[in-house]
Amino acid sequence: MQNVTLIATAAMGLESIVANEVKSLGYEVQVENGRVVFEAPVSAIPRCNLWLRTADRVRLLVGRFKAYTFDELFEATKALPWEYYISEEGQFPVSGKSVQSKLFSVPDCQAITKKAIAERLKLKHGVASKMPETGALYKVEVSLLKDEAMLTIDTSGVGLHKRGYRIGQGEAPLKETMAAALVLLTNWKAEYPLIDPFCGSGTIPIEAAMIGQNIAPGFNREFASEGWSLIKAKHWEKAFEEAEDKANYDQKLDITGSDIDHKLIKISEGNATEAGFGDLISWKQMQVKDLSIKKENGYIIGNPPYGQRLSDKEAVAKIYQDFGTVMQEHPSWSVYILTAFEKFEKQYGKTATKKRKLFNGFIKTDYYQYFGKKTKGEK
Ligand SMILES: C[S@@+](CC[C@H](N)C(=O)[O-])C[C@H]1O[C@@H](n2cnc3c(N)ncnc32)[C@H](O)[C@@H]1O
Repeated sequence: MQNVTLIATAAMGLESIVANEVKSLGYEVQVENGRVVFEAPVSAIPRCNLWLRTADRVRLLVGRFKAYTFDELFEATKALPWEYYISEEGQFPVSGKSVQSKLFSVPDCQAITKKAIAERLKLKHGVASKMPETGALYKVEVSLLKDEAMLTIDTSGVGLHKRGYRIGQGEAPLKETMAAALVLLTNWKAEYPLIDPFCGSGTIPIEAAMIGQNIAPGFNREFASEGWSLIKAKHWEKAFEEAEDKANYDQKLDITGSDIDHKLIKISEGNATEAGFGDLISWKQMQVKDLSIKKENGYIIGNPPYGQRLSDKEAVAKIYQDFGTVMQEHPSWSVYILTAFEKFEKQYGKTATKKRKLFNGFIKTDYYQYFGKKTKGEK
């Protein structure tokens, strides 16, 4: 079967991590702003949806062309092989966006795209009247950027951050895809201890546990393209079998989440149980200043409060100071903190080994990274 072109969409700043994930599944990639593009066999659709921890979703690229007029948009869309992807009964709602393009009216772009696809499908599937649209869902997107139209179909359904385990959450939970990225940006391996002292609803410890045991993040959810005739049932079966085979449920973990708020500890416990890690992650209600570390060569990965409201700034500065004081006693630990608080290093009392700019949703943050001085025998 012919290859398809896939697009793994990525939050700004996470493109290279998504690219590494796609590469490790065996596909060659091209990295663009906000996405990773790759050619792959159809079987990559189930595999990528199941395995990508940091991508937002996986889209199928149907075509990409310049369009300055509605006629051009219509004709070029109609010339694409939609019948190869969308079955006769398929539903194909069209959404759109337009940035810096002559065709700026999104409703018009959507309507024209819809009409062009419908005409093509009617002709190729031999349907005399209206397309029935009673079957599987093929969400089409027409996205215009600087007069280039990109036509894609969403293979994922709800965003890939929805792993299915989050039954409760706190005030500012991290997206699961971002939490996974924070873990993948460290050198943490399952043999090392890991603590998130600001765990909230437990996203970082749960994502780390999934990484540590090599559990496919999409294993417990469904995907829009599961109903597509393009992808044979055997491709889905094989992908789920592969995920089952590669999961290492025997891998021991030493992961702890703690938080000042006992309600959030309960929520974390519930989420972890839902994710299948009921007994595998330790949860403690505790203030960061009381953090007691007994082991060497561990990793702290945390997303503390940012103190964005003026009234919170002082309290947050004090939390960072207390945290810095605790960590001074543990030079073998590596510390990774995501925050928007600009004077983090000053409060923490140490300049980071490395900093990386990341967006947490729309908030501009820095990921402060302190590499621990590993004790003898450790890398
Ligand atoms: C941004 S939230 C973390 C969200 C979390 N990553 C998630 O995905 O749900 C920050 C957390 O720090 C906790 N916190 C605030 N002050 C603290 C302190 N002094 N010690 C420990 N935790 C604290 C808050 O209760 C809150 O849950």
